[in-house]
Amino acid sequence: MSPLLALENVTVDFDGFKALTDVSLTLEANALRILIGPNGAGKSTLCDTIIGRVRPTAGRILFKGEAITALPEQEIVKRGICRKFQTPGILPSLSVMENLLVSGRKNRAWWRAFTTATPAQEMARAEEILETIGLQDRRDVPAAGLAHGEKQWLEIGMVVATDADLLLLDEPTAGMGPQDTQRTAELILSLIGRHAVLVIDHDMSFVEALNGFTTVLHQGQILKEGSVAEIRADAAVEAVYLGRAKDEVA
Ligand SMILES: Nc1ncnc2c1ncn2[C@@H]1O[C@H](COP(=O)(O)OP(=O)(O)OP(=O)(O)O)[C@@H](O)[C@H]1O
Ligand SMILES: [Mg+2]
Repeated sequence: MSPLLALENVTVDFDGFKALTDVSLTLEANALRILIGPNGAGKSTLCDTIIGRVRPTAGRILFKGEAITALPEQEIVKRGICRKFQTPGILPSLSVMENLLVSGRKNRAWWRAFTTATPAQEMARAEEILETIGLQDRRDVPAAGLAHGEKQWLEIGMVVATDADLLLLDEPTAGMGPQDTQRTAELILSLIGRHAVLVIDHDMSFVEALNGFTTVLHQGQILKEGSVAEIRADAAVEAVYLGRAKDEVA
């Protein structure tokens, strides 16, 4: 069987600057992939390219065995890829529950979510996700009133609510303290098995808590792939990335 996602020799050129060079990787259904690398390594560009916001200048991207390289972003989303951005995408005046319901609406006509009764099935799924993200106590609170970490978890919940097969999470722990970071790792691990997740992050304590197959990007190229322990032990990774990451944490 073909993998859920396959990047084949993907190159992205921004007017002569190669943000990605000959990147190939595969991700199986319901599996976890961690993507790390220094600032400017091309991590967000990789997500942009998968979702169709940036077009590769060479190579191709296959999703469920079909080329999606030239498809419009909306069509790629429809096929089952959902992306969480570095900046929050929650609707601040709606409650936590309403945000989940809006995101789970299949027809994406979110304004209709409040003019028609919510089907029991959608309600049940939203309740289930509420529990997954641990915000049961915050169910009816306007999203604007959530703490920073809670906003990030709600956003992950909104991505989950789309029922996409592949979730792209770009720096979900940005601005979080150690406790919230650990909780985020547990949340992401609880999604594996139902969704494939490609998660980008800088925080090595988070990466270690996830403890999954990791790809290290450096200057737009894959420097190393392997378990977190293998990445940790690699001299080249240490030189370009881990030494710096340790300084950042300290
Ligand atoms: N639209 C664009 N046009 C030109 N250059 C771009 C564009 N988008 C990104 N870049 C450049 O491509 C490189 C990779 O950027 P990208 O945002 O993918 O890095 P990143 O690994 O996500 O970094 P960070 O850890 O800071 O989020 C950077 O040098 C960036 O300046
Ligand atoms: Mg980025």
